[in-house]
Amino acid sequence: MTDKTILRALGGETLPTPPIWMMRQAGRYLPEYRATRAQAGDFLSLCYTPDLAAEVTLQPIRRYGFDGAILFADILLVPQALGADLWFVTGEGPRLSTLTDQAGFDALLPADAIHDHLAPIYETVRILSGELPAETTLIGFAGAPWTVATYMIAGRGTPDQGPAHALKAENRPLFEALLDRITEATIEYLSAQADAGAEVVKIFDSWAGSLQGQDFQKYAVDPARRITAALKERHPGLPVIAFPRGAGEEYVGLHKAIGADCIALDDGVSPEWAAENVQTGGCVQGNLKSSHMVTGGDDLVRETRRVVDALSNGPHIFNLGHGITPDADPQNVQLMIDTIRGG
Ligand code: CP3
Repeated sequence: MTDKTILRALGGETLPTPPIWMMRQAGRYLPEYRATRAQAGDFLSLCYTPDLAAEVTLQPIRRYGFDGAILFADILLVPQALGADLWFVTGEGPRLSTLTDQAGFDALLPADAIHDHLAPIYETVRILSGELPAETTLIGFAGAPWTVATYMIAGRGTPDQGPAHALKAENRPLFEALLDRITEATIEYLSAQADAGAEVVKIFDSWAGSLQGQDFQKYAVDPARRITAALKERHPGLPVIAFPRGAGEEYVGLHKAIGADCIALDDGVSPEWAAENVQTGGCVQGNLKSSHMVTGGDDLVRETRRVVDALSNGPHIFNLGHGITPDADPQNVQLMIDTIRGG
């Protein structure tokens, strides 16, 4: 029996008060994050400086006492470790070298060659594993192969993942070879995080919602199942959270299809629907609209209670439906937590 409430919920326990953490909980809405980021110089230097990355991971734990701490890093460090160029344009987001042909694919490193580049991330995990309070669960993560591929193919974020869908239509063997390489690298990466002390891992498939029908099965579900199975073989008992954002009706049956301990819900589904159709398969995480962290007030309190109540009859980890945004008010986060813990 563990004191860590997140691990208990992942193990299938229904707790009187759900454990809480937030996607992007270490982020620009916090003044202490902005100060440490300025000290690091830029976002990638912050990711690759273990002491500072550990510091920003700990900041929201100190301020709010969240039940989970998510490693501070980014899903795009894996393509960088595979050989892609990566940089961040302030105010715009990530940029990468584009991968659209066989030559681009042939230039990638093999999956097991990523560890030298990613060693600072594993060091951050080790530091955190020693410094977190005993009741706080350390969550590692990676991007899902489809989502990571959409950035590698387009060289940036895209509203409709058009370039990745185009490559899939025009050169499916190359597209599938790329997904396989990312899948293998992700297994390596998450396995090394578990070795370093991550107690749970989460797979972020932010753009899963743009895969339809068979494609959803082949490019969102199958890679997540492969990663989950390989991790559980290497690390028996390691819980896995899968987040196929935008899955909609496809959320039904995903615990089983992926083999995940928890399915994370975005705010496109109602908590009442999720209780009936998804939580029956196991632990769910989510799914308050992150805009409440900006607007606050009675709406925040009402909607927070609604998520808690709707999902109170099964295992639930409270979270937002997507990352907290830079314009959020830190006091609204406290109001959300007080609403959940104070009744
Ligand atoms: O959740 C956390 O607190 C842990 C750290 C984390 C970051 N990114 C830090 C970050 C995690 C889990 C991610 C995941 C991530 N990164 C995803 C999947 C989840 C999602 O949001 O859909 C994606 C698609 C990325 C790629 C990425 N990184 C984008 C598109 C951007 C720019 C958008 C933005 O918010 O500015 C980033 C930058 C990024 N990653 C920031 C943080 C805190 C902001 C960078 C800064 O400080 O300037």
